[in-house]
Amino acid sequence: MTCIRKDSTDEMITFSYLCSAMVTENTIILAPLHGYTECAFRNALAGCFYGYDEAIAPFISLSPAEHVNPRRLHDLVPSRNSRLTVVPQILGNEPQQFIAMANALADLGYDRLNWNMGCPKKSIASKQRGSGLLPHPELIDGILSAVVPKIPQRLSVKLRLGRSHPEEIYPVIGVLNRFPLETVILHPRIGIEKYEVRADVDRFEEVLPLFKHPVIYNGDIFSLADYNRISDRFRSVKAFMIGRGVFANPFLAEQIKGLPLASAEEQRNRFIHFISVLMDELKKDSKSSHFLFSRMKDYWGFFSYLFYDSEKIYKELVRIPDEERFYQRQGKILNEAIWRDLNSSQTDFTGSKADKKQLEG
Ligand SMILES: Cc1cc2nc3c(=O)[nH]c(=O)nc-3n(C[C@H](O)[C@H](O)[C@H](O)COP(=O)(O)O)c2cc1C
Repeated sequence: MTCIRKDSTDEMITFSYLCSAMVTENTIILAPLHGYTECAFRNALAGCFYGYDEAIAPFISLSPAEHVNPRRLHDLVPSRNSRLTVVPQILGNEPQQFIAMANALADLGYDRLNWNMGCPKKSIASKQRGSGLLPHPELIDGILSAVVPKIPQRLSVKLRLGRSHPEEIYPVIGVLNRFPLETVILHPRIGIEKYEVRADVDRFEEVLPLFKHPVIYNGDIFSLADYNRISDRFRSVKAFMIGRGVFANPFLAEQIKGLPLASAEEQRNRFIHFISVLMDELKKDSKSSHFLFSRMKDYWGFFSYLFYDSEKIYKELVRIPDEERFYQRQGKILNEAIWRDLNSSQTDFTGSKADKKQLEG
């Protein structure tokens, strides 16, 4: 039997034990979403929902400064990252800066590191960073040759199929296979597609056997059915990264691990609790009330989809200039707007500007 217990001594729902043979023992990884899945969100998610095994943190850009400014590592301070295993992510292409950043992260205790080779943003890719690295396997080779022997961490990479063509992946695989990487996280789209077409699962299938390293699947898992379809098709894949699906259905990792989805009323109540924990966590990031206000508006770009009339809800909330009115309205929406029962409906962000802002991952 599967049991979860709500710990009454703690406002946070803690899942004290899970006494069941798991439906899946696959690892579920929270994807990095810059501006969303920073420490406050990770803590709230891990405190309120079961099943997320680890997270890759949103990228930290490399910078030319000789010493890494500790403020840039604020999101990764160990004291605030004890709830969920976190792997820091680096975005950049300069080996000395890469090594300096790796060392600064090692000083914080991080023994794993991820390199971003997938960011689709034009301003980043045009400087041969993120997905802009993918047409340049020789550059990737040079960076890995310089960095891998010098960093104390186990390194993983997160990449797309290419920047402009899915064929770009093939020489990149050849390069990656020559290095002792921990894992390769593959999001089967090309950079210029951003999120406008479906993840190319057929191409994923084609390239999967070419990798020497364990491959982690990432892309368009929004529901248990999506997860089952992908995990059944790729039996050799043992870890799955989920990004927007966590916003479409925060209960998804629980469902994947075999817990039944609660009634619509309980879903809503647990989500309301999650919002209050998230706000408390965000308050630890900054004393500025404006920070909390603008962050919550951003989150509603995703959260609104959990309700019917999501467009109306988002448009209304985002236009409220006054903080007090915003929180009053947020409370009313949380309690009274029609919840989209996740037992019978599914949100699929593909093809839309999922967070209603410019997507930049
Ligand atoms: C708003 C936003 C921010 C993102 N930030 C990052 C990031 O910092 N690093 C990264 O590797 N990927 C980033 N991504 C990409 C996601 O990690 C993930 O690969 C992508 O959303 C596809 O997975 P999904 O379909 O499960 O959402 C971002 C995506 C979005 C939508």
